[in-house]
Amino acid sequence: MNLKQQLDQRISAALAALTGQPDALAMVAYSKSPQFGDYQANGVMALAKKLGKNPRELGQLLAQQLQLDDIVSKVEVAGPGFINLFIKPAFLSERLNQLDHARLVAAAAQPQTVVIDYSSPNLAKEMHVGHLRGTIIGDAIARTLEFLGHKLIRQNHFGDWGTQFGMLITHMQELPFYTEGKIKAELSDLEGFYRAAKERFDTDADFARLARENVVHLQAGHPGYMALWKKFIDVSIEHCQQLYQRLGITLTEQDIRPESFYNSRLPQVLELLDQQKLLTVSDGAKCVFLDEFKTKEGEPLPVIIEKTGGGFLYATTDLAAIRYRCQELHAERVLYVVDARQSLHFQQVFTVAHLAGFASASCKLEHLSYGTMMGKDGKPFKTRSGGTVKLVDLCSEGVERALALVRGKNPETNLDDADLQHIAEVVGIAAIKYADLSKNRNSDYIFDWDTMLSFEGNTAPYLLYAYARIRSIFRRAQLDASAPYIINVEAAEEQALALKLLQFTEAVETLASECLPNQLCLYLYELAGLFMKFYECCPVLKAEGLVQQSRLGLCQLTALTLQQGLGLLGITTLEQM
Ligand code: ARG
Repeated sequence: MNLKQQLDQRISAALAALTGQPDALAMVAYSKSPQFGDYQANGVMALAKKLGKNPRELGQLLAQQLQLDDIVSKVEVAGPGFINLFIKPAFLSERLNQLDHARLVAAAAQPQTVVIDYSSPNLAKEMHVGHLRGTIIGDAIARTLEFLGHKLIRQNHFGDWGTQFGMLITHMQELPFYTEGKIKAELSDLEGFYRAAKERFDTDADFARLARENVVHLQAGHPGYMALWKKFIDVSIEHCQQLYQRLGITLTEQDIRPESFYNSRLPQVLELLDQQKLLTVSDGAKCVFLDEFKTKEGEPLPVIIEKTGGGFLYATTDLAAIRYRCQELHAERVLYVVDARQSLHFQQVFTVAHLAGFASASCKLEHLSYGTMMGKDGKPFKTRSGGTVKLVDLCSEGVERALALVRGKNPETNLDDADLQHIAEVVGIAAIKYADLSKNRNSDYIFDWDTMLSFEGNTAPYLLYAYARIRSIFRRAQLDASAPYIINVEAAEEQALALKLLQFTEAVETLASECLPNQLCLYLYELAGLFMKFYECCPVLKAEGLVQQSRLGLCQLTALTLQQGLGLLGITTLEQM
């Protein structure tokens, strides 16, 4: 149990005993400011109201009865009945000295099987900025849950089966240079290839007709078309995997479970829905109508399972995927890290899946949505000429800018060119990832090179620098950074830092339950800030004996926590910058 839960449990029990209300809640939270202690119990007011008692008096009674001497040095009743709790320095030291440096955070008591669907771009085109957020955010969530001991099954639900592929294979088929080597060369510019095919599709009626026919053949499994399609898909997947590697994303080829995988399972979805009398035919299409979904005008809003004249849809595939994830992968929780614009789709699909028993009631289906990446002008992020920004180009630009930054920071550097290149690669990618992770995923966010590459504020360079700086304390003084140091906090700055270090567990566990990586970012930023204050006020190398040991211990733990926390976010640390 983390400290917050421990306090909550003990104070809730005391409150229950005092009032005879077995379900009394202490509602322990972080205090807003140090003058109100480290934690606050806020549950007294609501309970007093319910019982018709004076909240302040109830608070005072509770404060007298609380037995928290092992954890807390002072309990204070404030305002209308807040209970302010001040954690004992000796408790902080003892807990920190007990930490397992290899993990810092204990594994979850009840590990779950969690399926996480993220990144999942359409393979018809090259990956662009629209896929960046889901890829980065999903990866941080997956890493964190996995670290906590959950069984994580990543699913890259590539879009590889839509009508666009009819157009692409038709274009492939008609190119005069259709030989192994040449087609590969042509496809090296996927974006250009897509544009050329689309141009023909839009301007040449015969081509468009052929493309529509071909997609039917393809989806029926025609060997020749399948072979063309496979060639295209392979190139596109390779391109995605290269990007994942550069971005440090943990998705591998084993995690690919694309739309085409479900093709053979679609008729069964239809059949099962039909057996359960959930289907209605409307204008020739087979649909599920749900009472809870209506259009703005109050008209019924169907989930279309099969189109008029045959053909399954995006929703049908998702229903098949839920069946697979729940019944074959045995997921207890399924997470979808997908653009907010698909939220109605997921609400509908989840409702149908539960109704049809594809997912049991206990299986949690969660859409973790995210907003759009905007440019500085407040409009969706585009190239200067208004095109979509390719992810490859975005990464390269980030690294280039980071190189200029680290060169500027190290005018007389002992680092050679290869070192600087390496640092720039890490900082550039980290900056892009962290800028995204540090914002609440639910809102749109403004992509801005200058803020993300600043050494000030809640940024990757700031945190990476804080880490490297602590590591250099040990390096310069030739001290062993992994030796056991006994922590014994005294000064106020030491206490504040120690408490924050102890709260790492809480930050990681919150990320696991709420799936909001920005909360862990904020934690790390605050931790680095408290470290800087401590380092200004409490000399480390100039201190002596046990005091020096203790301060070195705080430095060591701060570095470990930054490294571990950034690692969970998918960001690599640097020993030197
Ligand atoms: N390929 C889709 C897109 O690019 C995202 C897929 C998300 N996952 C899912 N199971 N529907 O919009």
